Amino acid sequence: MNFQLSEEHLMIQQAARDFAQAECLPGVIERDEKMQFPREQLEKLADLGFLGMMVSTDYGGAGLDTVSYVLAMEEISKVDASVSVCMSVNNSLVCYGLEAYGTEEQKQKYLTPLAQGKKDGALYTGAFLLSEPEAGSDATSQRTTAEDKGDHYLLNGTKNWITNGGTASVYLVIAQTDPSKGHKGISVFIVEKSWPGVVVGGKENKLGIRASDTHTIMFNDVKVPKENRIGEDGFGFKFAMKTLAGGRIGIASQALGIASGAYELSLKYSKERKAFGKPISEHQAIAFKLADMATRIEAAKLLCFKASFDKDQKRDYTLSASMAKVFASETAMWTTVEAVQIHGGYGYVKEYHVERLMRDAKITQIYEGTSEVQRIVIGREIIKQ
Ligand code: CAA
Ligand code: FAD
Repeated sequence: MNFQLSEEHLMIQQAARDFAQAECLPGVIERDEKMQFPREQLEKLADLGFLGMMVSTDYGGAGLDTVSYVLAMEEISKVDASVSVCMSVNNSLVCYGLEAYGTEEQKQKYLTPLAQGKKDGALYTGAFLLSEPEAGSDATSQRTTAEDKGDHYLLNGTKNWITNGGTASVYLVIAQTDPSKGHKGISVFIVEKSWPGVVVGGKENKLGIRASDTHTIMFNDVKVPKENRIGEDGFGFKFAMKTLAGGRIGIASQALGIASGAYELSLKYSKERKAFGKPISEHQAIAFKLADMATRIEAAKLLCFKASFDKDQKRDYTLSASMAKVFASETAMWTTVEAVQIHGGYGYVKEYHVERLMRDAKITQIYEGTSEVQRIVIGREIIKQ
């Protein structure tokens, strides 16, 4: 066992750290307040190769491993989780799903520009459309239908909470092709946002990750060519579950970054702020909070690396990804609440960043499977083993 990061990993970590400081930190408070999509930041991330980090270089990706992805996600999430959620969806849900299960034609046409994050010089990203008004955790209860019409499918229904919904060019849409078959009658399609019948609802006004782009998407008789189905008819639910396992590593590393960002700010502040004649870090109540933060963050990091290692070694990573996600997201929530406490009244105002990190942390316990769903997955896996 080797707990040492490679030279390449350290370089990627440093590049992501530099990027977060130089490109994400300026304006982060304003973008959050105004719900302003971080287009410029994402365009620059695309140029760095961070929107298709794990995609093979044959398809325009950076060809890196999952550990590199975790390191980059952590560094960017320390500063701006609205940027990192867009990055995470494009990398681990959209690009992964297409590379693992798409046809050669689908990869040439869609994966290459998505991995590069650009087409004709403009930002080009994807979104993953599973959730519906009545199908969130209970994801097999899909109401969106795709009716087989011979050479095409006719898509109808509503998806909600879709990250990148207003800005993505390509959607991976999960829909019911045969309701009588339950989850075995669910399929997955590549749909272009510009097609007739695709309607983008208003941007959600959220508690956290406010600059990210979350929308309801409606499909009204959208014609989807047969060649845009990914995998066999009926593969859609398995596709979603397999893809989400990798997505959960991305969100776990986002949560890890939010927690680490709050911890770093708290450590610095507690050494500078004096009360009762000494830095507050010298009061044991504060030092214990810092000790618990550091310990939980280290444990979360190791779980993220374990899940990445399993994925890179092509082992089953369903269990380790869910463990990383539930632990890192709960660490992020706990750490950010304590970070506000350590900052006292200053923690409650925007300039000190920790109140935003606290608001951003909450979503990591909800999306890509709530903490309850992760415990369902973990429970089933450990009993099965
Ligand atoms: N890999 C492969 N197949 C899997 C699987 C996996 N990880 N998990 C389940 N399956 C298969 C099962 O084997 C079963 O197939 P068979 O009948 O052929 O054996 C089928 O899928 C149905 O599985 P379950 O019976 O376990 O299904 P369930 O109804 O009990 O649901 C669940 C299980 C884990 C709760 C699942 O519905 C789930 O993960 N829900 C949460 C949905 C979610 O994470 N949504 C995220 C949306 S994307 C997002 O949120 C992005 C973002 O914010 C940025
Ligand atoms: P519900 O499933 O209704 O759950 C409500 C509560 O009940 C939760 O606490 C849940 O854990 C609990 N619960 C439900 N079932 C059980 C059970 N069996 N046992 C114990 N507890 C249970 N979805 C996408 O498809 N693509 C996206 O890009 C995307 N981005 C998102 C971005 C944001 C900002 C948000 C808020 C959501 C996003 N989602 C996305 C949707 C997200 O994945 C769902 O909100 C999530 O899966 C939970 O579903 P729900 O909201 O319907 O809650």
